[in-house]
Amino acid sequence: MQQKKSIYILGIESSCDDTSAAVLHNGKVLSNVVANQEIHTLYGGVVPELASRAHQQHIVVVIQQALAKANIDKKDLTAIAFTQGPGLMGSLLVGMSFAKSLALALNIPLIAVNHMQAHILAHFIEENGSKKPPYPFLCLTISGGHTQLVKISNAFTFEVLGETLDDAVGEAFDKSAKVLGLTYPGGPLIDKYAQLGNPKAFAFSKPKIKDLDFSFSGLKTGILRFIQKNVQKNPNFIEENLEDICASIQNTIVEILFDKLEKAVKQTGITHVAIAGGVSANSSIRKQLLIEEKNKGWITYIPKFEYTTDNAAMIAIVGHLKYLDQQFSSQNISANARLKL
Ligand code: KG4
Ligand code: ZN
Repeated sequence: MQQKKSIYILGIESSCDDTSAAVLHNGKVLSNVVANQEIHTLYGGVVPELASRAHQQHIVVVIQQALAKANIDKKDLTAIAFTQGPGLMGSLLVGMSFAKSLALALNIPLIAVNHMQAHILAHFIEENGSKKPPYPFLCLTISGGHTQLVKISNAFTFEVLGETLDDAVGEAFDKSAKVLGLTYPGGPLIDKYAQLGNPKAFAFSKPKIKDLDFSFSGLKTGILRFIQKNVQKNPNFIEENLEDICASIQNTIVEILFDKLEKAVKQTGITHVAIAGGVSANSSIRKQLLIEEKNKGWITYIPKFEYTTDNAAMIAIVGHLKYLDQQFSSQNISANARLKL
């Protein structure tokens, strides 16, 4: 297939509860439309069946909006990239089926993208003033479904140095928030209240996990027990201490993450350090990374907010890189809920 000079990639993301479509021109974002699914707030977490149904309702409109905002016709597209996995099977199928049909109808290449790879490679979206990490670099990928420390040797070579053995860090945020009576997803709310609280007000015990792996289920249980015990003594405990509780939970999580990140830098000797994924929107994690840069001489890479939580621009940038490398998928490709890096 002849490579075109002007590359227009449509990215489609539907791995969890956000339906998103983006158009990139030569790696630059022309549009990045995200439709959130409010329905899950009623249940305090993502309900897979409802998520796939909502994707079906949103996908056509979201793609139309992305094309309109980019001011291009679908016939101008060079290739279509979609999230193959990991994620919720029903949700993935909606995006993949749409991508396959459109690629077939337009007779253009189809490109399958790994969602976790996309979170990391979002750092390569062409943006004025943004710096791109040189290879090799380390990335702490933190989201609602994953917690991974990854060494990236080139755009297509990833090595997972450590990951969570149980819950993801986003789950620790969201489940703690639920215990505190905050709505889903609670991560951003914990962040908001934490900014007004004392991070040393309460102490939670941290997991003792060897090497570069993580664990958050013990912390989650510890927080639950702590809240239950205190509410028994004082029914107004949460309302009276919300900001301090949030700040203390957040501080504990930041300490756990940076302890491992520091270890990874020491072990690999790599000082170019990036963060990615929904939880990388967290203000305290961002602040801490800048402190490490100043104190330890790391060179750090923090994504723009719109490319932290699930979005299709990150899928499209991987599509762009794979297009340049001629890595195309066949119409027989399947979604993979447990796709590895
Ligand atoms: O990457 P993402 O959009 O979806 C997955 O692939 O999982 O990440 C969503 C996660 C949720 O757990 C949400 O609570 C968390 O990112 N999150 C945050 C913040 N913004 C989003 N957690 C802590 N602080 C934030 N500011
Ligand atoms: Zn994600």
